[in-house]
Amino acid sequence: MFQIDLSGKTVLITGASSGIGLGVAKMLAKAGANISGCGLENNGSEFINEVENQGGQAQYSICDVTKKEELQKLVQDTIEKFGQIDILISNAGGNIFEGLEDCDDEHWTQNIDLNLASHWRLAKLCKPYLQKNNGVIIIMTSNHAYSSIPGCFPYNVAKTALTGLVRSMAIEWSPEIRTVGLAPGFIDTPGNQEWFNSFPDPQKERTRTVNMHPVKKLGTTDEIGAWCVFLASSYAAFASGTTYLIDGGRSALMQENSI
Ligand SMILES: NC(=O)c1ccc[n+]([C@@H]2O[C@H](COP(=O)([O-])OP(=O)(O)OC[C@H]3O[C@@H](n4cnc5c(N)ncnc54)[C@H](O)[C@@H]3O)[C@@H](O)[C@H]2O)c1
Repeated sequence: MFQIDLSGKTVLITGASSGIGLGVAKMLAKAGANISGCGLENNGSEFINEVENQGGQAQYSICDVTKKEELQKLVQDTIEKFGQIDILISNAGGNIFEGLEDCDDEHWTQNIDLNLASHWRLAKLCKPYLQKNNGVIIIMTSNHAYSSIPGCFPYNVAKTALTGLVRSMAIEWSPEIRTVGLAPGFIDTPGNQEWFNSFPDPQKERTRTVNMHPVKKLGTTDEIGAWCVFLASSYAAFASGTTYLIDGGRSALMQENSI
């Protein structure tokens, strides 16, 4: 049986309290890792339960990744609890969907801080620990890094720029640290269910979305977690500087309608 064993590794995951980050924490704990997670929410109990149910140890910090001093505290909390960082999954982000006309300077700055600069700032803080342990960085970008929808600016700009950050980190911090990006498509998260619920017929909208995907399903947080387990492992030692698009074939499908 093919197995990936990450026991003895410490993983730092941002945005671990819900959605993709929570699924990633679960799968990494399943592979034997201990997890330090953060989120904006006061209560990280779902994250802690998820990790402990898989037999891992967990520590949770309330942290706004756009604040440098809170990132410093997050790294400090992780080191105090586990003494090491082997894998950084820089996942926290948010849909800042304004469109070119409605986006003002405040949205622009907020988007750059959250969806781009925070990843670079946290990676720099983790670098000394990752370097010591032949570490791995996985940056969560999006399918919006490759193609987008009207109104999703400036989110798509930051997510595109993250692919450049992945390349720079892979070039400048190798061979001690390996960096890759993940670009998920439509993942079945509570946030996306809320979006379906905003339609008069949520089930109809869900079916319409599913049908945009050749695989005829949405992605799951466990699937993104499994990609992280593989990319963080020594089996992926030749993967570096690349961002992997996981979108159920949506971008392979030629569009039927013009905008
Ligand atoms: N859900 C999708 O379909 C999808 C698709 C492509 C990319 N992504 C990306 O995946 C990542 C996670 O998305 P999700 O849908 O799971 O999100 P989510 O809204 O379910 O969860 C977001 C997580 O990030 C945390 N977070 C948000 N802002 C933060 C901040 N300023 N500081 C610290 N933590 C913060 C929240 O506390 C939460 O834990 C994001 O970077 C998102 O852009 C998601």
